[in-house]
Amino acid sequence: MRKPIMAGNWKMYKNPAETTAFFEKFRPLVAQSEHCEIVICPPYTNIAAAVAAAQGTRIGIGAQDLYWAKEGAFTGEVSGPMIKASGCSHVLVGHSERRQYFDETNETVLQRTIAALEAGLSPIVCVGERLAERESGETEAVLALQFRAGIGLLSADQFARIAIAYEPVWAIGTGKTATPEMAADAHRALRGQVRGRYGAEAADAVRILYGGSVKPDNVRILMAQPELDGVLVGGASLDANSFASIVNF
Ligand code: 13P
Repeated sequence: MRKPIMAGNWKMYKNPAETTAFFEKFRPLVAQSEHCEIVICPPYTNIAAAVAAAQGTRIGIGAQDLYWAKEGAFTGEVSGPMIKASGCSHVLVGHSERRQYFDETNETVLQRTIAALEAGLSPIVCVGERLAERESGETEAVLALQFRAGIGLLSADQFARIAIAYEPVWAIGTGKTATPEMAADAHRALRGQVRGRYGAEAADAVRILYGGSVKPDNVRILMAQPELDGVLVGGASLDANSFASIVNF
């Protein structure tokens, strides 16, 4: 059985005081939620507040990105060891917004994933097709390429320590959720890639999260698909009640 990961990606929202206020409300709402892992990924500037507020709970804190060098003259960047030392357990890698606005490629996704693993962080690596790619029937090919040129180049030991998030770009922040069947099809295609590269055991073990307009009122039908091993939530993770009801689907 794969334990679901219910993860929130706060993107560029909230300051430290708002972070502390969120956790005050959120903590009691998920105190009994042992059916899943809970991860919240705030902006770098809120990591200290989030780690302090999550202390003594099972809520993991993650960063939204990292740079692959350990340290150096890279103005504006933050490394895996720094994120780890700040108290994070997780890090997002290759989010479509990083790919779209900040030149992330499959190659840099791989470099960042390796750097995260070396720092002892659990990477959640994002993949997903754009609307035009889906409409022209290329979804599986795009996912296969993102896999083969990215995380498919990890060693088997490295791969065993990552989770994947399938986030169709057209479903992010648009209110257009993939149907549960569409999500499950994409997850099956990804798991097929994993099986081909790393074998049946790795394919059965890897957790694949769905992301894209997940809300309290659609999480249940999405999670009813056995292919979905959790969700990566943007907008609906910013409100404590809303994210708690997603966690407790
Ligand atoms: P929304 O839930 O706001 O669509 O964002 C999804 C996402 O990008 C999570 O990483």
